[in-house]
Amino acid sequence: MPQSRCAVILAAGKGTRMKSARSKVLHEVGGKPMLAWAVEAARACGVERVVVVYGEHAPDVAELAQELGCETALQDPPLGTGHAVLAAREAMADETGAMIVLYADTPMLPAETLQDAFASVDAGASVAVLGFEIADGGGYGRLVTSADGGLERIVEAKDASDDELAIGLCNSGVMAGPARLMFELLGEVKNDNAKGEYYLTDIVGLARDRGLGAQVVRGAFDDFLGVNSRVELAACEALFQARAREAALINGVTMIDPGTVYFSYDTEIGADVVIEPNVVFRAGVRVEEGATVRAFSHLEGAHVRAGASVGPYARLRPGADIGPGAFIGNFVEVKNTTLAAGAKASHLTYLGDAEVGEKANIGAGTITCNYDGFAKHKTIIGAGAFIGSDTALVAPVRIGAGAFTGSGSVITRDVPDDALAVARGRQRDIEGWAKKFRDAQPAKKK
Ligand code: UD1
Ligand code: MG
Repeated sequence: MPQSRCAVILAAGKGTRMKSARSKVLHEVGGKPMLAWAVEAARACGVERVVVVYGEHAPDVAELAQELGCETALQDPPLGTGHAVLAAREAMADETGAMIVLYADTPMLPAETLQDAFASVDAGASVAVLGFEIADGGGYGRLVTSADGGLERIVEAKDASDDELAIGLCNSGVMAGPARLMFELLGEVKNDNAKGEYYLTDIVGLARDRGLGAQVVRGAFDDFLGVNSRVELAACEALFQARAREAALINGVTMIDPGTVYFSYDTEIGADVVIEPNVVFRAGVRVEEGATVRAFSHLEGAHVRAGASVGPYARLRPGADIGPGAFIGNFVEVKNTTLAAGAKASHLTYLGDAEVGEKANIGAGTITCNYDGFAKHKTIIGAGAFIGSDTALVAPVRIGAGAFTGSGSVITRDVPDDALAVARGRQRDIEGWAKKFRDAQPAKKK
């Protein structure tokens, strides 16, 4: 039987290089906070209990951790990574299974890589350390292995000899082992090192001293990219976008210039969707098979159904639901509005808090006046209705099925099915007025 799994996520660092009023791990990659990436990666490999270790300067971290369903442990003051894990000891007191330790500032970590670390523990490793190969290990801890490939100890760069610094195998910081054993070993860690900190990494040597086996589990360097500054945050974002674009292309999405299309962590795009250049998908967007999203469109919380066309220059806001084969043209903004199959709003329109029936046609310049300064009101447009250009629909209002509104109308009352509503000043022609006006001008100039 596989043992139970738990995770400790370290987030007590100060993150000063971010130069931010917000805690570092609340900053987002692909529209999702870094801490949430870590929590979800752990959960994806069967972790039940997650304890997030935070610092007293960062109550916002504890708040987000709780929102994500995690427990929290305060580390005050921060005295090193080993000391940080010990802060979670009490919360984890009754954990008898495997425990993984990861950082909240490494958002690119795939669940599969964590899974490999757990698998190594299930196979008997007392400590499994995720490592990667790199030509120059810089400030990373070095993994010292024995001839048989087993892990002997980890040496921090600041404490390493020249020979040790030449080792290309580095510590990612992610480490797994039996929870009880890890806490027991952490109790023995001392701070007699270059930084005067309690190093988590020391538990490897301590395990080996007891004759226990430690293993290295290799991952790709990119998967462990850490964020300490906005430069590194941007690098992670770029990697996220590159991965998301490639996944979309592999799944059958056509992109003319993929490098200019931006995805969120939860963007869902069906096969045979065409996405033109310079499109932004914020959170909560789903685009179904065969739809087209044309250039310079911005979508958030929107559902674009099969075969629909959106843009160029369209803005879909939360609650926009564009029906099958429906059409949203340039400079059209849609919020909390459903368009049924085949409905069209081709130009310069705002549709907010509305329901648009099948094959209705919304003329250029139509505005739903949904807000009276206090509350939002609904506009209902029946199937096959034809809304004349520059119609203002003052909500709450209902346009019947098959009804017309005259161009430039301000509609304040419901319109019956198949009626024509005209609500505007009547046209008056004053014969000769323009000529008389023009002829009078030269005299005025003198
Ligand atoms: C650590 C590892 C190093 C590894 C590197 C990978 C140790 C001793 N060293 O070094 O081998 O190559 O990560 O990036 O573990 N944190 C706390 N409380 C603390 C100290 C740190 O929560 O008291 C958190 C930080 O917020 C951060 C993480 O732990 O998320 C790592 O801390 P950091 O100071 O960056 O460790 P490194 O020196 O980079
Ligand atoms: Mg670091």
